[in-house]
Amino acid sequence: HRTLRVALLGAGSVGSQVARLLREHGDDFAERSGARLELAGILVRDLDAPRDVDLPRELLTTDAESLIVGADIVIELMGGIEPARTHILTALNSGADVVTGNKALLAQHGPEIFDAADQVGASVSYEAAVAGAIPIIRPLKDSLAGDRIVRIFGIVNGSTNFILDKMDREGLSAEDAQRLATDLGYLEADPTLDLEGYDAAQKAAILASLAFHTEVSMDDVHREGIESITADMIEGARRAGFVIKLLAICERLADADGEAISVRVYPALISREHPLATVHGGNNAVFVEGEAAGPLMFYGAGAGGVQTASAVLGDVVSAARRHIAGGVGVGESARQSLPTAEIGRI
Ligand code: HSE
Repeated sequence: HRTLRVALLGAGSVGSQVARLLREHGDDFAERSGARLELAGILVRDLDAPRDVDLPRELLTTDAESLIVGADIVIELMGGIEPARTHILTALNSGADVVTGNKALLAQHGPEIFDAADQVGASVSYEAAVAGAIPIIRPLKDSLAGDRIVRIFGIVNGSTNFILDKMDREGLSAEDAQRLATDLGYLEADPTLDLEGYDAAQKAAILASLAFHTEVSMDDVHREGIESITADMIEGARRAGFVIKLLAICERLADADGEAISVRVYPALISREHPLATVHGGNNAVFVEGEAAGPLMFYGAGAGGVQTASAVLGDVVSAARRHIAGGVGVGESARQSLPTAEIGRI
């Protein structure tokens, strides 16, 4: 097998699992991709920080430039806008394919990143950016490319679902439920991203852009979080036959003026009969409605280090196959431009 050099940027809860699985299942990946994947190094902020997984000290580095330049595949799992954005652009411009889980970056600078990739014929894949382990990006991009998506809605934030679920089923206070979610590593480093709906809004922007072949950024998304949801509100909803879930809803709207897109995130009352009411713990569920396909449901673990690592590694194997085949870019920057409608809850 030819050897491909893989650079990993970030060794947090997802990154450390990616490193472990790459090393443990290297032979399988070589069989599947036709290339031996050599983990060339892992970019970390602090060489001595405690980690979920023991990583060989000699792989750790704080020197981004030397790690990235010369890599065939760069996996970016640092999160945040900078320096992740700069590292990804450096990787693309030096000929690497990029795999990222960075929803904040894609929701804010997606067009810039995809343009840069298309210009050099490289790929950027991001299955891990939305709904953890659940395959949703590739189905929208490939399997459903021949359909016309009319609506996507569901639960795309695992930690807030976990918190609401603990409050609903075990009567926990918001604070206790949040503490548990933190201990499980479900919450972002900055928990307000989850609690105030930013994380769900980033994912909704990514899904809407892909599904409707347009550019939806964070700023186009109507956003409300769960920070004001109390145990009493949950109890009241329960007595009336409802459960409170943080929903992301992306819709294609048509009126006399033509088409527009609406993307919104808010805590909604869901009938206990609805399948979304049975999405428990850190799970996610995404409903996709295609004009031809009708309704489809995607369900599974929406957060968690090892679960999300599965999505990352799927992208890595695909990138390796593409690299071996001498593939060209996926043309994702070619998007139309649909207006976004200013609506909140409907
Ligand atoms: N904080 C995110 C969540 C992690 O709770 O869904 C997965 O993106």
